[in-house]
Amino acid sequence: MNQPASSASTASQPRHFALIPAAGVGARMGAQIPKQYMPIAGKPMLRHALETFAAHARIAHTFVVVSAGDAWIDELVTPELASRATVLRVGGATRQESVFNGLNEIRHAAGDADWVLVHDAARPGLDAGLIDRLLDTLDGDEVGGLLALPVVDTLKRESAGGRSQETVPRAGLWAAQTPQMFRYALLQRALRQAAEQGRIGAITDDASAIEMLGLQPRLVEGSPRNLKVTLAQDAALAEFFLKG
Ligand code: C5P
Repeated sequence: MNQPASSASTASQPRHFALIPAAGVGARMGAQIPKQYMPIAGKPMLRHALETFAAHARIAHTFVVVSAGDAWIDELVTPELASRATVLRVGGATRQESVFNGLNEIRHAAGDADWVLVHDAARPGLDAGLIDRLLDTLDGDEVGGLLALPVVDTLKRESAGGRSQETVPRAGLWAAQTPQMFRYALLQRALRQAAEQGRIGAITDDASAIEMLGLQPRLVEGSPRNLKVTLAQDAALAEFFLKG
């Protein structure tokens, strides 16, 4: 797999790297293969996001983190993608561990001030317009941020017996999506600190680790088409969006 040219950023021109953690097994899908390799709209889910980043002129390079024994990735990263994407076989036991291992592996390519866009392999609906919106909003930002959608449903807290105990006010609540975009050094520090404090298991996205540093990531409006495919029925919805 090709390695990107060394690319230490200057303070004035940080670069943008995509990092796709794809080392999960997708147990909730109940499928035989990891969910990132399940076909959606004619190709494996992971390939959609990979192609979107690879085709985007503002993304310097894309890195994909898979588990050491992954048997599917080599076939997926075709020769035309290989110059724009590098596979890192350093997946961990959790998503955050996979992201952290991936960050350590790309130390040779990324400078402290470069941006890293962490994107779940299970969100095949990402498109160039959403990447542009994220970059346009966050370039120059002190902290970084993430795509997210304001919550529109009325929220209920379940009691032990499967009944609605109370209604949770939805004002000010957003559902986090990815990419989540932070400077290389800040994200690495946030994940390291979360691990050292034994809190890594409590976080399910990168922004939560940044919040634990007392910082406030910016919320950038995402899109319903950027949904995360978790359950079998999500695949049909993702296919609907991708087929346009
Ligand atoms: O399972 P879930 O949908 O929350 O996973 C989110 C993303 O994190 C997926 O792209 C999955 O492949 C990745 N992941 C990982 N390493 C793990 C677990 C999940 O890279 N150990």
